[in-house]
Amino acid sequence: MSHRLDNGCGLRNKQCFGEADCTDRPCGTDGVYTICTAAYASTMTDRVRAFDTASNDFDRLGHHLWQPIGAATVDRTAPSPGERVLDACCGTGASALPAAHRVGVTGRVDAIDLSAPMVRVLGQHAAGLPQLHPQVADATAWESGDYDVVQAVLGVFFFPDMAAGTEHLVRRARPGGRVGVTIWRKGAVELAGQHLGAAVGAVTGKEAPKRPSGPIDGVNTAETFRPWLEQRGLSGVGVTVHEMTLEMTPEVAWLLVTGSGFVSALSGLDPAQIDAVRDGYLGSLARDGVRSLDVTTLIGVGTRA
Ligand SMILES: C[S@@+](CC[C@H](N)C(=O)[O-])C[C@H]1O[C@@H](n2cnc3c(N)ncnc32)[C@H](O)[C@@H]1O
Repeated sequence: MSHRLDNGCGLRNKQCFGEADCTDRPCGTDGVYTICTAAYASTMTDRVRAFDTASNDFDRLGHHLWQPIGAATVDRTAPSPGERVLDACCGTGASALPAAHRVGVTGRVDAIDLSAPMVRVLGQHAAGLPQLHPQVADATAWESGDYDVVQAVLGVFFFPDMAAGTEHLVRRARPGGRVGVTIWRKGAVELAGQHLGAAVGAVTGKEAPKRPSGPIDGVNTAETFRPWLEQRGLSGVGVTVHEMTLEMTPEVAWLLVTGSGFVSALSGLDPAQIDAVRDGYLGSLARDGVRSLDVTTLIGVGTRA
């Protein structure tokens, strides 16, 4: 198998760890495999693949964004010493790491993600935490069960069937076990997407793609999230509104693009175009006086009936 380190998206060589890490498919034209996945990001599944490209910047963004949200979720699911936890869609460990600290060496955290590069970064953070077990796996097909705690932070809306995938996760908990699901609140993060879409449109000459609607749009308020989680098989559900704003310094604002699913918007662009998008995006944020971004989440926790 041969490797090509640039599939034309301009993010050349960014995440290639070598053949052993290459889990991607042939590009379809010459049978060459590539780990640079952003160019495929036109469907929900491919948007997930964009996280392979995002993993290093994802981790750099973590301090500003993912870690406070992960910590707030773990405060609500409250793993205790000796418990078994499944952390689904773990990314680089924003919730898996605090969970591992809480369960201690007598407990266990299975941290799973579809993205091999994300799991690789988490593996580096897991040094000294033998109770933490990062693995590349599809959360919607994970079969182990009887967990005391199942948690999924900012992941379930990537599932091909969000309701069925969440029900599958709920069934991974033991009866009476806690399940925590965190999603963006309605409107969160969207302003950045609008500025990015406009900047990409200006560079490519194509109309900015509209944010695709999905099942998340029907459940992303505290009022709708609670009954939706109950329908997935949870009882005693409480929803916490975790209010948060992200300070949009130019560095953080661009990290939000290169270190999240937004990176898929750069697919197919060459390096000069990406520079132009960056300038356009940061310029329009500055012109509109956007210095902070709503990144509020809903943290829903209940017990498996
Ligand atoms: C926005 S990130 C959140 C990561 C982490 N939970 C955090 O809060 O930092 C979403 C993650 O979900 C993962 N993901 C999406 N669908 C998945 C699936 N079916 N199974 C496992 N991981 C999945 C992506 O690879 C990505 O790492």
